[in-house]
Amino acid sequence: MNNSRDTFSSRLGFVFAAAGSAVGLGNLWRFPYLAAKYGGGIFILVYLLLAVTLGFTLMITEIAIGRKTGLSAIEAFKKLDKRFGFVGNLASIVPFIIVPYYCVIGGWVIKYIIAFVTGQTSAAAQDTYFTGFITQPVEPIIWFAVFVLLTSVVVIIGVQKGIEKASSLLMPLLVVLIVVISIFCITRPGAMEGVKYYLLPDFSNFSVTTVLAAMGQLFYSMSLAMGIMITYGSYMKKEDNLRTSVRQIEIFDSAIALLAGLMIVPSVFVFSGGSEEALNKGPSLMFVTLPKIFENMSIGSIHIGTVVGAGFFILVLFAAVTSSISLLETCVSILCDKVHWSRKKSTLIVTAYILIIGAVISLGFGPLDFIQILGLGLLDFFDFISNSVLMPIVAIFTCICIGFFVKPKVIYDEVELNGSFKEKKFYTVMLKYIAPICLILILIFAVSEAMGWITV
Ligand code: PHE
Repeated sequence: MNNSRDTFSSRLGFVFAAAGSAVGLGNLWRFPYLAAKYGGGIFILVYLLLAVTLGFTLMITEIAIGRKTGLSAIEAFKKLDKRFGFVGNLASIVPFIIVPYYCVIGGWVIKYIIAFVTGQTSAAAQDTYFTGFITQPVEPIIWFAVFVLLTSVVVIIGVQKGIEKASSLLMPLLVVLIVVISIFCITRPGAMEGVKYYLLPDFSNFSVTTVLAAMGQLFYSMSLAMGIMITYGSYMKKEDNLRTSVRQIEIFDSAIALLAGLMIVPSVFVFSGGSEEALNKGPSLMFVTLPKIFENMSIGSIHIGTVVGAGFFILVLFAAVTSSISLLETCVSILCDKVHWSRKKSTLIVTAYILIIGAVISLGFGPLDFIQILGLGLLDFFDFISNSVLMPIVAIFTCICIGFFVKPKVIYDEVELNGSFKEKKFYTVMLKYIAPICLILILIFAVSEAMGWITV
């Protein structure tokens, strides 16, 4: 059966599909607010260091596992070593935790599309607009539901390929637009302060939390430690060069995140003087900051911000949908494999699950804002459990399983089927020692902090 597994028609096809899953709200919405919050340049430095070390190690491992076994995460781990079957199960929980809140943010994006398309640019630029919106009980849930339905309709009628094709045109367009908006931002008076904050590492801003935040973001943004890259790898052709593909996905994903930050973080300095409060906005940062930019955007006396804003949010929606499709797809195939429901039934049940849990998360900003778990609101709590707890655990066991039981040779062989594996030594040390030790420390830290055992 595995022999008949579809493969991507070319290496670039694989890179695009994996990048379509990787590039999404993680890059555009999550990365900038973390960079703003966790010290700017120092966060970027830590993130990039982690990307070329830990990120590379994990991604090449996952894709190689997938291509070697031709299976998705749950079965792949079982096949490699029976005792590690639970890693696949653990990894499978992650997309179920992420997808509901991912869709809540997707709903916010739709709300902003509507705001710009209907010309409410100035209203959207007000400080109170965003809070006024998310604290309402009903409206955010409606947009969230629209986003969920959009995603599941695509999956049910099976036009993912079409969407991916469209996004290979729209993604570059999004990149161009981000570059244009960034240039506009960093040439505003006062922006240089922000560019410095964003790009120059200030070591006095460094803390363990910076590393924790950067690592969680790395997993999230590169769709690691949740089985997705294993599944993607299982579709990759044996002739393709694995190492080059991994490098390309990483570079692409990081470049988009960096650019998105360059568009958002300096603007915080332009419009709010870079105050601590403004930098600490968290999940709302993109939605509060960008409309202010669009409101001020004109060429001569012609205001172009409304059109640019509408176009921008539409493209963001596309990037978000390609990622949410891959999340939903993963959940669906897990149910198909595990409980043997039909695709249709699985899709409907996952959709219903997302609608219920997502609605509760959305209400967490309004009527349910009294619900705080470990001092976190609902959305932040879901985000914390997946990115700071489950993903490190999955990553630790992946390293141990391959490093000490299955042995790294399996990965070398797979990578060397086509092309060289230049970083072999480095990879091995990373996989067997550095990555697991760092991950364990970080995990202990994250849990201790959340439980209030330590304070930073
Ligand atoms: N990596 C995606 C992003 O950056 C999020 C995602 C995670 C998508 C896991 C699919 C699977 O937005």
